[in-house]
Amino acid sequence: MSARLRTVVFPVAGLGTRFLPATKVVPKELLPIMDRPLIQWAADEAIAAGADTLVFVVNRNKRAINDHFDMAFELESRLASSGKTEHLKMVRETLPAHVRPVFVLQPEARGLGHAVLCARPAVANGPFGVILPDDFILNRNGPGALAQMAAVQAEHGGSVIAVEPVEWKDTSRYGIVSGSQVNRQLMRIDTIVEKPRPDVAPSNLGVVGRYVLDHHIFDLLERTNPGAGGEIQLTDAIAALLKEQPAYAYRFDGVRYDCGNKLGYVQATLRCALDDEEIGDELRRTLENWLAPSVA
Ligand code: G1P
Repeated sequence: MSARLRTVVFPVAGLGTRFLPATKVVPKELLPIMDRPLIQWAADEAIAAGADTLVFVVNRNKRAINDHFDMAFELESRLASSGKTEHLKMVRETLPAHVRPVFVLQPEARGLGHAVLCARPAVANGPFGVILPDDFILNRNGPGALAQMAAVQAEHGGSVIAVEPVEWKDTSRYGIVSGSQVNRQLMRIDTIVEKPRPDVAPSNLGVVGRYVLDHHIFDLLERTNPGAGGEIQLTDAIAALLKEQPAYAYRFDGVRYDCGNKLGYVQATLRCALDDEEIGDELRRTLENWLAPSVA
């Protein structure tokens, strides 16, 4: 079986209220980690997992995401005529030639499950990926999280959901899973619940924003009623899927930064900046200076 995912869906219709006023005009997915917007990191991860169709589920306030992946005619011709070939390459390489972006509308914010369902007409048969770009995952020494999950899906079949242990007090911020261990990194899921309170959570293994889903999830999403928060939850459709076929929780290699909040966003930025060839060493010295106990 091939470990390749043809289609990856990016639900990007959320509001980004935690970053107002920065996100008043700029979609939160275009906030940069260093010099690349979050959505570009996510697209690159999908392409590295084999995707050639990227489906962005947007709304009327997210048109700039479309522009980011479009040709920037004026900018490109200016860079070309002034011989700035390196910059030209960066602008052109937002998507390689074999990759096709597709934009579908989610006219109303009715939940993550509803967003994924909106993508249905653009998703080829077979397993497909979902990336929530707010969950930024870096695996500096190996393949990206989605590529790892595609390989797990090819080996075990079914669906694969990324998880990591979260603080017990935070279970009500995540989908939470429990099940039986298959190996060190893999668990077959018995139970999945959306945002349970700590006292009723089945474990502290939280779902993070990477999924490889069987195409049948769309049939189940069609029948999913609004759940937690009055929204159509992807987690509820996955719970229905479990009754028919296996789904696995996968503890990925890599570090996840929750870029939906300020701390995670700044941590991700610092991590990438410290790794950067151009500024990393100087930034390290600056931080060491700032943090050194001051001599009175
Ligand atoms: C969504 C999912 C949740 C998951 C989380 C990961 O919640 O509904 O199950 O744990 O993403 O980031 P949201 O963060 O959109 O409220």
